[in-house]
Amino acid sequence: MFTMNKNIVCIGAGYIGGPTMAVIAKMNPDRKVYVCDINAQRIAAWNSKDYELPIFEPGLVDVVKEVRGKNLFFTTDIRSAVRKCDIVFVGVNTPTKMFGRGAGRASDLQFWEATAREIKEWAKGDKIVVEKSTLPVRTAAAMEAILNGGTGNGERGKQFRFTVLSNPEFLAEGTAIKDLLDPDRVLIGGPDTPEGREAVGEICDIYAGKDGRWVDRAKILTTNVWSAELTKLAANAFLAQRVSSINAIAGLCEATGADVDEVARVIGADRRIGPKFLKAGPGFGGSCFKKDVLNLVYLCESFGLHTAAEYWSGVIKMNDHQQERIVSRLFKEMFNTLANKKIAMFGFAFKADTGDTRETPAGYVARLLNEEHVRLSITDPKAIENGRRDLAGLDGVTWEKDPYKAAKDADAVLLMTDWKEYPALDWARIFKSMRKPALVFDTRNCLDAASLRETGFKVLNIGK
Ligand code: UDX
Ligand code: UDX
Repeated sequence: MFTMNKNIVCIGAGYIGGPTMAVIAKMNPDRKVYVCDINAQRIAAWNSKDYELPIFEPGLVDVVKEVRGKNLFFTTDIRSAVRKCDIVFVGVNTPTKMFGRGAGRASDLQFWEATAREIKEWAKGDKIVVEKSTLPVRTAAAMEAILNGGTGNGERGKQFRFTVLSNPEFLAEGTAIKDLLDPDRVLIGGPDTPEGREAVGEICDIYAGKDGRWVDRAKILTTNVWSAELTKLAANAFLAQRVSSINAIAGLCEATGADVDEVARVIGADRRIGPKFLKAGPGFGGSCFKKDVLNLVYLCESFGLHTAAEYWSGVIKMNDHQQERIVSRLFKEMFNTLANKKIAMFGFAFKADTGDTRETPAGYVARLLNEEHVRLSITDPKAIENGRRDLAGLDGVTWEKDPYKAAKDADAVLLMTDWKEYPALDWARIFKSMRKPALVFDTRNCLDAASLRETGFKVLNIGK
C-alpha cells in the first residue's frame, strides 16, 4: 500500500513540467510539489528573486508567486526530492532521434530512460511513476521493465513496487495556465490491476484538487496505458492535419481568387467540423506537432502499416511546402532576386504569446532566405534570445528589439508571428522609412490589408 504522504515530484522543469506543477501546487495546497531539473541554470531562473522565469507564459508568474516556497519547490537535488515523494511525474524532453535507427522520425528516449534508472536508484519506497512527456506507444512498458526488473531495486537493494501511468499533457503554449486551470479533459492511463486502479485514483484526486476545487470528475477520463499514449500522438496529429489541410486549400485560393479566411469561416460553421485550427498561415511549429506526427509515421511503419504511414507523412510534407511557398512568392514578387535586399522579419516565435522557437516556421524561412543572401533583420517581443541561439552562425542576420528599427530601409516586411502588437504599429511611419516599392507579406493574415494598400504598400497574404 502507498503511504499517506502524497507529495509530488516532477523531473523536468521545462514548458510542461514548470507550469503544470505550479498549477498542481496551487490547486493542492495540502501537498508539497518539487520540480527538479539537471539544468542548474534553469532551476536558478525558476527560483529567481525577481521572477525572471526561464519561460514566458501569460499568468505563470502570478501562480508561481502564490505557491513558490510554500508548497512548490524548484531544486536540482533529484535524489532527495524522489525520496520525499510517492508520486513521480516525468516531464523530460524526448526530441526526435537524429542518429541510427529511426533517425529523423523516432523519439530519442535516452533522457527518459536515464530518468527511469535514476528514480529506481533513489527510491526508498513504492512509487507511482507518471509519464508526462509524449512518448511512443508502449514506452510505459519499458519504463515498467526498468523500474521493476531485476532483483533488489531501490537504494538498499529492497524490492519496491513502481506503478507506471501515462498522463499526457494537452496544454498549448501561450495559454498554458488557462488550459491547465480549465482543461477540456484530463487523461490518465493505467493498468487494469488492483494497484493500477488505485494509482489512477490517486492521480485523479490530484486533478480534482483539494476539496474538489479543480477539474470536474466527469472531465477526468481514464483508459488503459496504451490508449493514453496513443491518444496524445493522435490528438496532435489531428490538429496538425487540420492546419495542413487549410494550408493546402490556401494555395488553391491564391491560384483561383478565393479567400481562404472566408472559406475557413464557412467550413468552420459546420458544427461537425468546428471553427478552431482552421487558420491558414506559415505552417505549424512548436515542440510537439512535427515530432508527434513523425512518431506516428514511425509507429505505423514499424507495424507494417505503410499506407497509414504515408498518409500521416503528407501532413509534414504539406507543412514544409507551405514554408517553401512563402519564399517562392517573395522571390517572384521581388523581381526574382533577393540578394542583398533587406527583409524585416516580424515575429520569430512559432506562435504569439510565447518565446518558444522550437520548430518555428520563421526559422525555416529565415534559413531559406539566408541561402538567397538576404539581409535579414528579425524582431520579436519575446523570442530574440532563443532565436539568436537557433540561427547562430548565419551571416547576414541581425536582431532588433524595435520593429521600427528592423523595418528601416527594408525592401519588405515579412510577418511570421501573429503578435497582437503588430496590427497596432504605425504602418505609415514604417512605410516612410522603407525602400520603395515597399512590400508587406502578412503570412498570418492579421494586418488590415486594405489600409496598408491605401498607405502605399504592396501587400501579400496567405490564401488570397
Ligand atoms: C515537451 C514535451 O513534454 C515532451 O514530450 C517533448 O518531447 C518536448 O516538449 P517540454 O517541457 O516542453 O517538454 O521540454 P523542455 O522545455 O525541453 O523541458 C525538459 C526539461 O527536462 C529540461 O529543462 C531538461 O533540462 C530536463 N531534463 C532533461 C532533466 O531534468 N533530466 C534529463 O535527464 C533530461
Ligand atoms: C500543441 C497542442 O495544441 C497541445 O494540445 C499539445 O499539448 C502540444 O501541442 P502548441 O504546440 O503549444 O500546442 O500550440 P498550438 O496552439 O497547438 O499551435 C501549434 C502550431 O500550429 C503553431 O505554430 C500555430 O501557429 C499553428 N496553427 C494553429 C495554425 O497555423 N493555424 C491554426 O488554426 C492553429
